[in-house]
Amino acid sequence: MKKEKIKIALVFGTRPEAIKMCPLVKKLKENISFNVITIVTAQHRQMLDSVLELFEIKPDYDLNLMKPNQDLWNLSSDILLSLKDVFDKEKPDLVLFHGDTTTAGMGALSAFYSRVKIAHVEAGLRTFDKNYPFPEEINRVIVDSVCDLMFCPTDKSVLNLHNSGIKKGVYKTGNTVIDALLYVVKNKNTNLDFIGLNKNLKTILLTSHRRENFGKPLENICLAARELVENNKDIQLVYPMHLNPNVRNTVIPILKDIERVKLIEPLDYVPFCNLMKQSHIILTDSGGVQEEAPSLGVPVLVLRDETERPEALEYGCVKLVGANKEKIIKEVQNLLCNKEEYQKMSKAVNPYGDGHACEYIEKIILQYFDEIQE
Ligand code: UD1
Ligand code: UDP
Repeated sequence: MKKEKIKIALVFGTRPEAIKMCPLVKKLKENISFNVITIVTAQHRQMLDSVLELFEIKPDYDLNLMKPNQDLWNLSSDILLSLKDVFDKEKPDLVLFHGDTTTAGMGALSAFYSRVKIAHVEAGLRTFDKNYPFPEEINRVIVDSVCDLMFCPTDKSVLNLHNSGIKKGVYKTGNTVIDALLYVVKNKNTNLDFIGLNKNLKTILLTSHRRENFGKPLENICLAARELVENNKDIQLVYPMHLNPNVRNTVIPILKDIERVKLIEPLDYVPFCNLMKQSHIILTDSGGVQEEAPSLGVPVLVLRDETERPEALEYGCVKLVGANKEKIIKEVQNLLCNKEEYQKMSKAVNPYGDGHACEYIEKIILQYFDEIQE
C-alpha cells in the first residue's frame, strides 16, 4: 500500500552545500507528494546563514555544530551523534546529502547506521587520490558507498561510479549549482561599489581555502598574487577571504596594505556571482567556482595539481596551475598579454548542467518510490 507522503530530509552544513541544496529544497517543497524537512548541521555558521537567507529557507533542525577552528575528529563525532537523534525522531523515507564535506561523509554514515535510505547529490566525483582533496575524496567515497540513489552531474561522474562497481541507482542529472546560478542571475542583482574596485583596472579574483593548501602552498599563492599586482599596474586583485583562521593567518600578513589588493570578507552569493562575472581572471582552489565560472565565460586558473572536475579542463576554460609561485605568475601573465590565449579560455560553456537538475532529481525520487512501494 502506498504511503500518503514521502518524507524527505535534506542535510547540509557548509556554504557550498547550501548553495547547491537550497534550490532542491525549494523544488521538492513544491511537490505535494513530499513532506520535506531541512536539517542543517551548521558546520559553517555565518557562511551558511547568508545562503539560507538568500533562498528564504528556515531549517526544521539547526544543530548549530560549528566551533572556532574546529578539527575533523570532534566535528565528525558531533555530526554522527546529533543526526542519530534527528533520524530516530523523524524516521525519514529518504535522506539527501551533498558533495564531500564532513557533514556529507559523517552524515551519510549516521543515516546508514540508522538504516535510512540515502541519496547523494553531486555523486561520483573522484580524483582517485585519497590525499587530494583531503579529506573530501574519502568523504565522497563514503557517501556513494552507502547510497541508494546517486545524482551525478556529468557522464564522467556516472562512469566513475560504474567503473567502481556501483551501477544501480546511478543517474546523470547535471549539477544543481547551475540551477542556483541561474536563479541568482535571473532574480537578483546587486552593486559592488562597497568593495571599492577601480573600473579602469582589470580585476583578478582570488579564493583559496583548501586544507592541502594551508601553510607553504597558500603562502606561495599569496606571494605570486603580490608580485603580479606589483608588476602590472593595470590590474587589481580582490580576495574574499574564507573565515577559516588557517586561511586568514597566512593571507593577511602577505597581502594586507598592498596597493590595488582588496582583502575582503566572504561575499554573499549574489555579489560574489556578480564579482565573478566582472572579473578578468579567476584564481581559485574552490570546487564550486570551477563549475560556475565556465558558465560566465571567465578563465579560471585552478590552484591545485588535480581536479575532480575535469570537464571544464577539457573544454579549455579552466587550467591547473597548482600552488607554485612561478607557474601561477607565468600563467596569469600569459593571459594578461596574449589576447588569443585569453579568448580561447573565455568562451562561455556549461559542462555541469542545463539548470534543471532539481527537476530531474525530483522525478527520479518519485519514480524510485513508485517502484519500491508497488
Ligand atoms: C569545509 C569543507 C570543504 C569545503 C569548505 C567550503 C570539510 C572537511 N571541509 O572546509 O570541503 O570546501 O567547507 O567552504 O568538510 N568558519 C567560521 N564561520 C563560517 C565558516 C567557517 O568562522 O561560517 C571558520 C571556523 O573557525 C571553523 C573553520 O572556519 O571552525 C573551519 O570550518 P570547516 O567547515 O571545518 O572547514 P572549511 O575549511 O570551511
Ligand atoms: N562563494 C560565495 N562567496 C564567496 C566565495 C564563494 O558565495 O566569498 C560561493 C561560490 O560562488 C561557490 C561556493 O561559494 O558557489 C563555493 O564555496 P567554497 O569555495 O567555499 O567551497 P567548495 O566549492 O570549494 O567546496
